[in-house]
Amino acid sequence: MKDLLETIVEKNRKWTKYGNIATYIPGLANSDADHLGVFICDIRGEEYFAGDYDVKFTIQSISKIVSFICALIDNDFQKLSKKISVEPTADGFNSIVNLETKNGHRPLNPMINAGAIATISMVNGLTPKEKFNRVYDFMKKVTNNNHIYINNNIYYSEKTTGDRNRALAYYMKSTGIIEENIEEILNVYFKLCSIEITCKDIAYMGAVLANDGILPMSGERIITKEISKIVKAVMTTCGMYDSSGKFAVKVGLPAKSGVGGGIMAVVPKKMGIGVLGPALDESGNSIAGIKVLEDLSKELDLSIF
Ligand code: DON
Repeated sequence: MKDLLETIVEKNRKWTKYGNIATYIPGLANSDADHLGVFICDIRGEEYFAGDYDVKFTIQSISKIVSFICALIDNDFQKLSKKISVEPTADGFNSIVNLETKNGHRPLNPMINAGAIATISMVNGLTPKEKFNRVYDFMKKVTNNNHIYINNNIYYSEKTTGDRNRALAYYMKSTGIIEENIEEILNVYFKLCSIEITCKDIAYMGAVLANDGILPMSGERIITKEISKIVKAVMTTCGMYDSSGKFAVKVGLPAKSGVGGGIMAVVPKKMGIGVLGPALDESGNSIAGIKVLEDLSKELDLSIF
């Protein structure tokens, strides 16, 4: 397996030259587009890795998975669905238009920015600090890593430039989807997106979902099987935004990308995979990361379809 991963990473390094780093968050502009790494954690806790698997990057939208899990634990699916649905979108991850025209003002799904911000408002916590800690603590559990921290430079960069997210959130306040103080909810969202992780952390996260909610390392159940199922289904249909269909055809795995260049993929009953490649396509997904996942899926026959 180690040889296979090394071959796949080296073969796909050429793709790191394509696409662009996400400069709309100025703090991300310093990311190194040459990085390409992969980490696999299987459901027995075995680990395999290659390339720049130990480079830190911000979790960005992969944090939406953890917020969604917490919101599903804290509310039942029916209640959550009154605010956020689980339908795919053919628009960009920070698109505004559907909030007004579709779905009774509900964000289409919890993976796009509007849906993730609304999801945070549904997480338990009487104060923004409690809400942040609720998701942050769960992120530490699901990554099996107590040493993940906010990158304050990226957090500040997001907070000072996040006007599109501000627009989405204030619009949702006007339609009653969010009732809390918008700046406070946004702060929680920006902080969660700015947490630094590695491919290993997201591979562990994927392994828990692959293992139907049980931490492979300790055998502890931290998510119900039912919630794991919901999360994997939504990852499959919405996790790669308006490229989710193409990704399903080419890779065939539940996955979630982030503009930091990470992708977390789940091979049900088998393994979690974390990849990093900071240069992105027009949907905001790592180009080289997808190529690595495509090759892995082909070589190991991983597609769920
Ligand atoms: O809010 C944003 O735009 C970023 N913090 C997260 C977006 C993101 O990661 C989209 N993913 N590919």
